[in-house]
Amino acid sequence: MHRTATMKDVARRAGVSTATVSHVLNGTRPVGTALRERVRQAVAELGYRPNFIARSLRRKGSGAVGVILIDDTNPFFSESTRGVKDAALDNGYSVLVCNSEGNPDRENEFLELLAEKQVEGVILFNVRDSRLREAAGRRLTVPVVLVDRDGASRGMDSVVVDHYAGGMDAMEHLLSLGHRRIACVTGPSNSTPALLRLRAYANALRRAGIPYDKSLVFRGDFRSESGYAAVPFLFSGGVLPTALFAFNDLMAFGAITALAERGLRVPEDVSVVGYDDILLSSFFNPPLTTVAQPKKEMGRAAFGLLLDRINDESLSPRSLRMSARLVVRKSTASPGASKGGDGSGCMR
Ligand code: RIB
Repeated sequence: MHRTATMKDVARRAGVSTATVSHVLNGTRPVGTALRERVRQAVAELGYRPNFIARSLRRKGSGAVGVILIDDTNPFFSESTRGVKDAALDNGYSVLVCNSEGNPDRENEFLELLAEKQVEGVILFNVRDSRLREAAGRRLTVPVVLVDRDGASRGMDSVVVDHYAGGMDAMEHLLSLGHRRIACVTGPSNSTPALLRLRAYANALRRAGIPYDKSLVFRGDFRSESGYAAVPFLFSGGVLPTALFAFNDLMAFGAITALAERGLRVPEDVSVVGYDDILLSSFFNPPLTTVAQPKKEMGRAAFGLLLDRINDESLSPRSLRMSARLVVRKSTASPGASKGGDGSGCMR
């Protein structure tokens, strides 16, 4: 008769410790790609399934956790939530996903609804309103993990990405190609990740000795429509920008569509960099240069933190920091590359 594989078997097959196996499955600590792959392969080869029944017998709670996100039409959130769902499944949990559309009232309603459903914990993605974050901490008697907001000062667990460094990478890429007139489409003004990217934009220009020009900054809202709307504002006369840094991929797509409607080609006339690296970005035309966020890993890590807290309320709050990484594709080039120009922009 077949014996069911245990975590120990997985560890032995992968040649790692059981703690490493647990970190890979729960995302509680960063584990190198090679090691992670070995563990995943061993899990697949042995058909390892965590012992859900034993766990649920031990468990007092409902076996469900909640996720509240702000825009379920944005693949950044579905791709990150995928990480939560995978880790939850590995641990025998189900996930209730709520879309608040960034509306604090709806967020509060969902918090109440999730409390009624007796979820064991909640993961909050990109909650923008600081009152809500505090309210969430008070209102819920279950653990909360923040994603994309640093919870350290509030004594909450969180998963954050270094958006300042990500913004710098995007800007240094454009500057190193020779762009001097670089426009940007920001995110909402109450979004910390957007503010960090804006700070990087301004500091990169200052370091390069380029004055900050507010006519090159358009306030977006992380939706494609605002990237589309930015173009008439940023490209309406005078010396045109030769590059555009959109603070997420959806806005980059909107901007590229609007540029094409004006007869401006990407990257020949305008280089465009996005942020997030959603799956669609490599299939866009042109494939988008963008700053990749470790979306699935963020989701997995958030679930791991939540599970640890569900199991031990006395743990001190942890903030996991992850890095973003520039992915260079076809939407960026040197200014005027196709027409032998001097990169100073052209009049329209
Ligand atoms: O696309 C959604 C954006 O909102 C992401 O860049 C994420 O970091 C968040 O702030």
